[in-house]
Amino acid sequence: MSGKCMIGEVNRHVGDQVTIGCWLHNKRSSGKIQFLQLRDGSGFIQAVLVKNEVGEQIWEAASHLTQESSLYVTGTVREEPRSQSGYELTVTGLEIIQISSEYPIAPKEHGVDFLMDHRHLWIRSPRQRAILVVRSQIIRAIQQFFDERGFHLVDPPILTPSSCEGTTNLFHTKYFDEDAYLTQSGQLYMEAAAMALGKVYSFGPTFRAEKSKTRRHLIEFWMIEPEMAFVDHEENLEVQEQFVSHIIQSVLQNCAAELKVLERDTSKLEKIVAPFPRISYDEAVEFLQKQGVEFEWGEDFGAPHETAIAEAYDKPVFITKYPTSFKAFYMKPDPDRPEVVLCADMIAPEGYGEIIGGSQRIDDPELMEQRFQEHNLSKEAYQWYLDLRKYGSVPHSGFGLGLERTVAWICGLDHVRETIPFPRLLYRLYP
Ligand code: 4AD
Ligand code: MG
Repeated sequence: MSGKCMIGEVNRHVGDQVTIGCWLHNKRSSGKIQFLQLRDGSGFIQAVLVKNEVGEQIWEAASHLTQESSLYVTGTVREEPRSQSGYELTVTGLEIIQISSEYPIAPKEHGVDFLMDHRHLWIRSPRQRAILVVRSQIIRAIQQFFDERGFHLVDPPILTPSSCEGTTNLFHTKYFDEDAYLTQSGQLYMEAAAMALGKVYSFGPTFRAEKSKTRRHLIEFWMIEPEMAFVDHEENLEVQEQFVSHIIQSVLQNCAAELKVLERDTSKLEKIVAPFPRISYDEAVEFLQKQGVEFEWGEDFGAPHETAIAEAYDKPVFITKYPTSFKAFYMKPDPDRPEVVLCADMIAPEGYGEIIGGSQRIDDPELMEQRFQEHNLSKEAYQWYLDLRKYGSVPHSGFGLGLERTVAWICGLDHVRETIPFPRLLYRLYP
């Protein structure tokens, strides 16, 4: 009996006989030879059956295999420089687990709606698999970055009694007799955690009932939210540029094969090394006006504005110090110019838009109370948050990285729907 092995590890078994549990991805035959394209999640490999060598029974079994049939294949691993994986399997045995019939996703072009309805199967395709592998590597790189820098992972709640990022896109639910909302951001809780543990980060799902149907918006998305005590606006930006550079370099190092499947131009990613350029909101407005875009100081940027600004750079760019008027209630005003706040959005290159939003937070209890009044926030619901400014308040900052937009950028995708296994989009809750 030969040892079980995954396709991703055949490089360690050259010359050995191995057994692989797998699915048939594709098949072709030329008379007395059949070529089976096998996949097992860890990779793809071609298995070769020679009629004279395997005998009638195995040859017959192989000829009945259909796309996505499941099987065990036994064979000898050979190096094969002409094949994509660099290896091939010479088949000596074959055991069918199940013959799959009429698999709906044929190796041809399908419409997006059809593929989205079959997302549970679509993720088996080489492209979708590559994206999910890159996503997993990005998550690994994120955890590694924070682990190496003394951060603690903290999990904020998903069900919350109040909002963090405004009340317009909250998901409401009943919490027994009370009202509750799905979290839009763990930030406020992470501020409490930073006062307890110093440097913390969260990684969890967040929800926004946004009626926007764009290539950048999901209803449910995953956010990484670091929060750091005794860290100011400038230091916050330094962490962010180190963080994003680390993620990119880690994917380049570990996912070369997947980026190739995705036909990603990696020369663009290789340039993503800290430091990143910074421009102020004021400078960004001036830049747009010089380009002939009609834009007034005090308006928020839309996606086309962000793209126009980002096009001037081949790295992500920080747009800093937005007007206080339309930014979140918790952002600290610039002491020299209270009409702007100590915040920054990081805009990815190549038109991928805002991937990070962050800021230094208000630490002054009186100013925070004033903001509560201006924003009509109930002091009752947020009493605990006000406490943080009462008992040893310190300068602190943090940010939120949107995982799916980061995956879309690194993989070079047109739409965030392919960046998450089962996307929740406007009007899509299935599968
Ligand atoms: O800019 P946002 O709204 O910032 C916050 O929620 C802060 N409380 C974070 C913090 O400081 N701890 O969201 C942060 C990031 C955005 O830059 C974007 O990448 C992503 O989350 N994001 C979305 N991604 C996909 N679909 C959506 N609907 C998103 N909304 C925000
Ligand atoms: Mg934002």
